[in-house]
Amino acid sequence: MDPLEIIKKYYKIESMAFKILVNHSKAVAEKALKIAEKFEVDKQFIYESAVLHDIGIFMTNTAKFDCHGIFPYICHGYLGREILEKEGFPRHALVCERHTGVGITKEEIIKNNLPLPHRDMIPLSMEEKIIAFADKFFSKESDGSVRLRTVDEIINDLARYGEEKVKIFKEWLKLFEGNA
Ligand SMILES: [Fe+2]
Repeated sequence: MDPLEIIKKYYKIESMAFKILVNHSKAVAEKALKIAEKFEVDKQFIYESAVLHDIGIFMTNTAKFDCHGIFPYICHGYLGREILEKEGFPRHALVCERHTGVGITKEEIIKNNLPLPHRDMIPLSMEEKIIAFADKFFSKESDGSVRLRTVDEIINDLARYGEEKVKIFKEWLKLFEGNA
């Protein structure tokens, strides 16, 4: 499959939303593939699903990303899952649902009353973890540019959701980049 052809079904290629999505997703895919070289993982799948992981953003109400849907931004993961399932790619679909932060548990969804279906949204496979990890390093900017985020910035951000999130990220850092 060509992930960009799927994205073009849902985004006008001249839109800022397309530019923001594709520039971010390509950066994530490039980093994910670099990590993938060190492991026995499905590289084709990593490339395709890294490009597609944020496809659900257009359904959210996020003006700064030129997205004018009705859902809160946090919903873009499971919305992306629904899109890719409809397109016939259930395995890629799970990457969409499981890439937010370092994952969201069913317990957290219920406890924090998040507008999400009540199920675990946690990256399980190596491929899912690599993409969720790589995603944390690249911001989306309103002008379509991508900013590289520092490890400190990522950790400070995750800390707002609890120390357990930071712990998971640090484990990934060690596993994927050999840093403690
Ligand atoms: Fe992303």
